[in-house]
Amino acid sequence: MNITVRNEQEKDYRIVEEITRAAFSYPERIARGGIDCPYEHWMVHELRKRDGIPGLSLVAEIDDIRLQDSQSGSCNHIVGHIICSKAEVRSSDHVIPVLNFGPLSVLPAYQRMGIGKALIRNMISKAAKLGYGAILFFGRPEYYPQFGFKEASIWGITDSNGNHYPAFMGMELIPDYLSCARGGKYYESDLYDDDQNCDKVRDFDTVYFASERLPDRD
Ligand SMILES: CC(C)(COP(=O)(O)OP(=O)(O)OC[C@H]1O[C@@H](n2cnc3c(N)ncnc32)[C@H](O)[C@@H]1OP(=O)(O)O)[C@@H](O)C(=O)NCCC(=O)NCCS
Repeated sequence: MNITVRNEQEKDYRIVEEITRAAFSYPERIARGGIDCPYEHWMVHELRKRDGIPGLSLVAEIDDIRLQDSQSGSCNHIVGHIICSKAEVRSSDHVIPVLNFGPLSVLPAYQRMGIGKALIRNMISKAAKLGYGAILFFGRPEYYPQFGFKEASIWGITDSNGNHYPAFMGMELIPDYLSCARGGKYYESDLYDDDQNCDKVRDFDTVYFASERLPDRD
């Protein structure tokens, strides 16, 4: 199976949102103790309008003969997506722009095949080429250290409430970029604030996913 990572295009928007919705809501994830996150597909939709970085919204395609399109003959099929957005660290005398990323999604049937890895590695390499100084984000501490992410506390950065914990991680893309961030607090787009956006997500789902229902969870 070949995995190709490329920039997302407008024609991919709908499938990317469906993949995101499936990745974050499938029953096994919840059974394993994951948090049910039914907002992530809406975040992707909104991040394209503000705070998201178009050059860092990437899709992973695989070529799977079983999925060959009868008309075009193409076997390519999008199975994963990652998007980056603008964030910053604010200290008493600096505002330091950084990258955030997420949601990161792989279609459940294609997980644990290296697709998430390919998306993250491509994102890191593209972000570095585009000149971004650092990535900071919240994620699973059991998954991300394999890519070189470290707990943000090593740079003396906290979340916006002044806390640090293993799920708050980062990576410098330019050496010592975060050295002037010590004592600073991290702020990401308010699109990640579930509490603030709950009603908007429900309205969005009512219209946009009206004909679709997630599988029952019991
Ligand atoms: C998390 C996710 C993006 C990983 O993508 P993936 O394509 O399944 O992962 P990969 O195949 O690239 O896995 C790479 C490695 O990480 C491990 N891994 C994958 N998911 C993991 C998880 N949830 N926890 C711990 N390790 C994990 C795999 O075992 C693999 O290790 P190996 O190469 O030594 O076998 C994908 O499982 C997903 O979409 N999950 C649901 C949505 C989600 O949780 N997104 C991330 C939010 S922080």
